[in-house]
Amino acid sequence: MTPDPAPRFAILASGSGTNAEALMDTFQRGALPATLALVLTDNPQAEVIARAQRRGVPVAILPRAGLSRDAHEARLLRTLRDASVQHLLLAGYMRLLSAAFLAQLGGHALNIHPSLLPEFPGLHAVRRQWQAGVRVAGATVHLVDAGIDTGPVLLSGSLLVRGDEGEGGLAARIKTEIEHDLYPRAVLLFCERLARGALPAPAP
Ligand code: GRF
Repeated sequence: MTPDPAPRFAILASGSGTNAEALMDTFQRGALPATLALVLTDNPQAEVIARAQRRGVPVAILPRAGLSRDAHEARLLRTLRDASVQHLLLAGYMRLLSAAFLAQLGGHALNIHPSLLPEFPGLHAVRRQWQAGVRVAGATVHLVDAGIDTGPVLLSGSLLVRGDEGEGGLAARIKTEIEHDLYPRAVLLFCERLARGALPAPAP
């Protein structure tokens, strides 16, 4: 078999997977100098499973139930290694990855977060922006470290809050107007910077 020089990615998602879908479509259009090896999820009910299956992307379902975080992360790592994946794209993954896991990954993990980091890290970011009455909201793609949404920022995008869209409407606008375009662009930027050795060393 010819060796594949392109960096190999997996997507890790726990939920509906609309960002995962935007990423899968970008990989499948051939718009990234990289390979998407598989989609991983910890949630057997996640909608992302069907989205991946419809596109013929291999899916690994690795539930956390009954496992310690270490044991679960060991399974994730084995699955990634078996697929020769170095880089991980978190797309609505609802758990924190440990420093030990990130150190063993051998590459980088990226995450997308629905706020203009470093503002509003952590859970319920859209709700907190809505309640704070921000005029400008957005999303950020960053490299993952062991903190909560604290790693180096790759790319961010913003929108003006209209004020009449409600919290749910704002969440939807952030996804459709910003995230689904931003994440694929950030992966392209990541690949370009990876190719010229211009990224910070993988965490931690
Ligand atoms: C997105 O808003 C993303 O920023 C956050 O989780 C949400 C995932 O949504 N990390 P989806 O599953 O991609 O639709």
